[in-house]
Amino acid sequence: MSTAAQQTPTYELADYKSLGNDLLTQRIRAVRDQLGPELLILGHHYQQDEVIALSDLRGDSYELSKMAASNTQCRWIVFCGVHFMAETADILANRPERLAERGGKRVRVVLPNLEAGCSMADMAAIEQVESAWAELSALLDMQDVTPVTYINSAASLKAFCGRHGGIVCTSSNAETVLRWAFERTRRVLFFPDQHLGRNTALRMGITNDQMPVWDPFAEELGGHDEATYQRSRVILWQGHCSVHQVFRPEHVHQFRQRIPDIRILVHPECPQEVNDLADISGSTGKIIKTIQQAPPGSHWAIGTELHLVQRLKNEFPQLDIHFLSPMVCMCATMYRIDLAHLCWSLENLQAGNPVNTIHVDEETAHSALVALERMLAIS
Ligand code: 13P
Ligand code: SF4
Repeated sequence: MSTAAQQTPTYELADYKSLGNDLLTQRIRAVRDQLGPELLILGHHYQQDEVIALSDLRGDSYELSKMAASNTQCRWIVFCGVHFMAETADILANRPERLAERGGKRVRVVLPNLEAGCSMADMAAIEQVESAWAELSALLDMQDVTPVTYINSAASLKAFCGRHGGIVCTSSNAETVLRWAFERTRRVLFFPDQHLGRNTALRMGITNDQMPVWDPFAEELGGHDEATYQRSRVILWQGHCSVHQVFRPEHVHQFRQRIPDIRILVHPECPQEVNDLADISGSTGKIIKTIQQAPPGSHWAIGTELHLVQRLKNEFPQLDIHFLSPMVCMCATMYRIDLAHLCWSLENLQAGNPVNTIHVDEETAHSALVALERMLAIS
């Protein structure tokens, strides 16, 4: 479990909401100048432009965990992203060897808005995963099943993987992680994103009839019979990202009809039907690198969160970049981090009264770290 501390703030959030972006930016810069390297502001690529401009480092989920793991100077990480990312940063920045180097002093992690969660991460609760594991153990040799959790999950699920010989993956290393798992066991239980699990396993030659989807709300056995699990290689979890669900195959067809040499670039959280039609599928980091290397004048339709696509459009005017869906779909929870929350959390921190600190309890952090370190060691 992690606790999100809501201390009594020195400054009230309400007083920040009416301030304009220029003033908020100025005040945020002032705190950064004063705290110097003691403060590290991390920003995920889906953050709003105003927020990302104030981040010291930006990255995809994998890169951000590496940054939190490797920084030796900071005392504070202010995480402009969502809850599971702040939890991961807390675990990695405060792992035992780092704590010992700092004489036991913790790096404290702040999530500027505690409402910034991830709806996909919420689709797998630890009780549900434990009960799936128990039900499956009546049918399968669980020594021959590796649990793999997408990093978009609560620390308790990462801890579950740590305790059961499992591992964490991100969208940038899912295939490497699955290979690691298949070197050890015949089967994988993959949660919470069925699409990342399916898209990755399909590329490795596993077929859909070897990938039942476990429905945590089914009356029994996740909604399938025993024979289905006996032939399974990857048991997927019935979870998805609502943002990436809006991309549909017809959007790809429409673009290809309109612009024949368009390249379709998507995130692997998109459903299989879209992923299969795309030219390139990859993490937000890979999407950005692909666009950075694209020849001038080339045409692209991108299937991922709107703020990132819009930023790429602005930063690369020499390219013809489109948002893959005709519908606006942004990550509403990432958007909950705004300049008002960032400034409010930073000024309280500067006043010696930090708000919204995220702290994963020791037992959970210990087991979650096992699964995270397995991932960091192989990718
Ligand atoms: P990546 O940035 O790791 O590709 O993940 C996207 C995402 O949905 C984060 O929640
Ligand atoms: Fe979660 Fe989807 Fe938002 Fe990523 S884009 S944080 S998976 S809801």
